[in-house]
Amino acid sequence: MAYHILPSLLSADLTCLGEEISAVMQAGIDMIHIDAMDNHYVQNLTFGPLLCQAIHRRFDKLKIDVHLMATPVDELIQQFATAGATRISIHPDATIHLDRSLQLIKSLGCEAGLVLNPATSLDCLEWCAYHLDFVLIMTVNPGFSGQTLITEVIKKIELCSHRFPQLPICVDGGVTTENIAALAFAGATQFIAGSTIFHSKNYANTIAMLRECGV
Ligand code: DX5
Ligand code: ZN
Repeated sequence: MAYHILPSLLSADLTCLGEEISAVMQAGIDMIHIDAMDNHYVQNLTFGPLLCQAIHRRFDKLKIDVHLMATPVDELIQQFATAGATRISIHPDATIHLDRSLQLIKSLGCEAGLVLNPATSLDCLEWCAYHLDFVLIMTVNPGFSGQTLITEVIKKIELCSHRFPQLPICVDGGVTTENIAALAFAGATQFIAGSTIFHSKNYANTIAMLRECGV
């Protein structure tokens, strides 16, 4: 099983982002995760398409995973796709016409993901899974890094992997070297980690440990 590790930039040292990205790239990552927050869908304000474009220009081989925590989404989908996003994920309650927004992501050549908050049911996937390249299951409430994983969500990951066996499961929030094995056992194959990676002393060691623990 190929596991993907995606460092979340939210926990990086923002005064030297380029160096932080170089460091995790050298440490061996699969993609970088950008959290776009609008102080409306969530109570935080973070990164926009300009940052995505700057990263894409400097690191043109790096795959960029954009997690939109913003509403409305359609204009931002276009801007992030133009800015070089590899994939874009959206929350179902952040857009009025989910099917149309997912189609938009695909039509712009990006991979599409649906993000489920901790209290959001898997039923949301029923009539849109065929558009999706992955589902992103939030293991914390969106908005901030450094939160503790909500263990009850692990059951949802397990149910999701049984109900939608073809759909890769990505998890986001509170992922650590201690809990990654339980997440992987439940069926997750893609792991977003912010503080665990960027607050560690040696990124390569931490990423290697995450990979080993996940197996
Ligand atoms: C939270 C974000 C996460 C966050 C993860 O809303 O979606 O990507 O950066 O950070 P950690 O791994 O520190 O929980
Ligand atoms: Zn995220």
